[in-house]
Amino acid sequence: MRANFSTTAAASGFRDFLAADNPLPRLSSVLQEVIACGQDPDTNADRLARLVTGDAALSARILKTVNAAYYGFSGEISSIRHAIVLIGFGEVVNLAVGLAFIGIMLPDSDDTFYRHFRDHSLATANLALFMAEKLALRERSTIFTGGLLHDLGRLLLYAWQPETYRRIMAGSVQRQQSPLILEHELLGIDHPTAGSLAGTYWHLPESLTAPMGTHHALLPEPCGFPLTGLIRLADIIAARAGYPAIPGAPPPRLPSAVWTHLQRTWPHISRDRLKLWQEELRPGIDQLKELPGQAPSPGRIPHDNPEPH
Ligand SMILES: [Fe+2]
Ligand SMILES: [Fe+2]
Repeated sequence: MRANFSTTAAASGFRDFLAADNPLPRLSSVLQEVIACGQDPDTNADRLARLVTGDAALSARILKTVNAAYYGFSGEISSIRHAIVLIGFGEVVNLAVGLAFIGIMLPDSDDTFYRHFRDHSLATANLALFMAEKLALRERSTIFTGGLLHDLGRLLLYAWQPETYRRIMAGSVQRQQSPLILEHELLGIDHPTAGSLAGTYWHLPESLTAPMGTHHALLPEPCGFPLTGLIRLADIIAARAGYPAIPGAPPPRLPSAVWTHLQRTWPHISRDRLKLWQEELRPGIDQLKELPGQAPSPGRIPHDNPEPH
């Protein structure tokens, strides 16, 4: 399998970058405490509610999000405590992580890399959420944040080695080659591996670290994280809908083994149904603006289908 590799030297250089001062904003202390609380077996809903409400802006964004139509509780949830009861403890933790990371993904910079990255991440997150609603899945915060963070490793590689990463992007466009190959050639580490290392470094929940590490794997993830398959589908649709992570680079592809696994997990998913959903999304693109974060400007919604390769 080509994805998810690194050399030891590159991985340790990247870890040093995470530990040292870097150009990206740091995780806030509230977010660090929320993440730790989510992994503490002795914690409880009251502690999580207290932590989150300690950050007024974050708790307001959480409430706005869970009351949005796609969460199915329109206007009903009035407090963080209530949100924990209705959508679940882990879901509130994952949503807090996602909403906090939207800020981290927008450093104060005119660099177009960050704009493309943000638009691609938000489009993937919102499309994944759309599919979660269609499949009546409860884990909507996990899938939203998983979509939002799936390419976090790419952002971090860019922040670590901007000149080299610009060469990777240019080479990917010129050669029409997957950026993963060039990441390995020029940096010795690909973005899924970087994402996975960062998730572990920040102690992010495994439900969020897994999609970061496996969203380009040739085989379905072996255990426990079926949502990754939906995030992969959303990643491909986002790229084809006009929100590619690297404009001009070949879009990601869905290996046939992953497609088969997806259909086995959700028999509802078929090529015909995907076409219908894409048609449904076309007029619904404005609804995506109501979802968390700054939505990208409407792009072309594709007629073609993200068929497996
Ligand atoms: Fe990726
Ligand atoms: Fe992506």
